[in-house]
Amino acid sequence: MVERTLAIIKPDAVERRLAGRIIQRIEDSGFRIRAMRRVRLTRAEAEGFYAVHRERPFFASLTVFMSSGAAIVLVLEAADAIKKWRTLMGATDPAKADAGTLRKEFAQSIERNATHGSDAPETAAFEIGYFFAGIDLI
Ligand code: CMP
Repeated sequence: MVERTLAIIKPDAVERRLAGRIIQRIEDSGFRIRAMRRVRLTRAEAEGFYAVHRERPFFASLTVFMSSGAAIVLVLEAADAIKKWRTLMGATDPAKADAGTLRKEFAQSIERNATHGSDAPETAAFEIGYFFAGIDLI
C-alpha cells in the first residue's frame, strides 16, 4: 500500500552538511519526495512535536538539540513508506544500527542520530500535519 511518512534530517546532520547525501539516498531508495522544507524549530515547537516523549528522561535534552539549528522536514511516499524509511535509517542508537543504514553512517549518538521517521500511520498523520498543510503535498 502506498503511504506517506514524515522524515527529518536533524540539526546534527544539517550542520555537518550531510543533507545532500541523505536526500540522495532517499531518492536512490525509491521514495518520492512529496514536500520538503528547511525549518528552525523553537523549543516549544520541538516539545510539541515530541510530546509523546515528554515523560522520558531525555526529553529536555532532545528538545534543546532539535531546536539548536536548522533541520529539513520531508514527506516521503512509497509502498510501505513508514517501515521502508525506518529500515533505511537503521536503529535509533547508531551503535546498534546495521551496516549500510543512514544512522550507522551518519549518526553521532543516540540523540544526535541524523534522522527521524514516523513509527506508525497515526504518528505519520500527526507529524506530517505538524509541518505541512494538504496544499503543500504535491
Ligand atoms: P527519533 O527517532 O527522532 O525519536 C525520538 C528521539 O529521542 C530519538 O530519535 C533520539 O534522537 C532521542 N532518543 C531516544 N532515546 C534516547 C536516549 N536513550 N537518550 C537520548 N536520546 C534519545
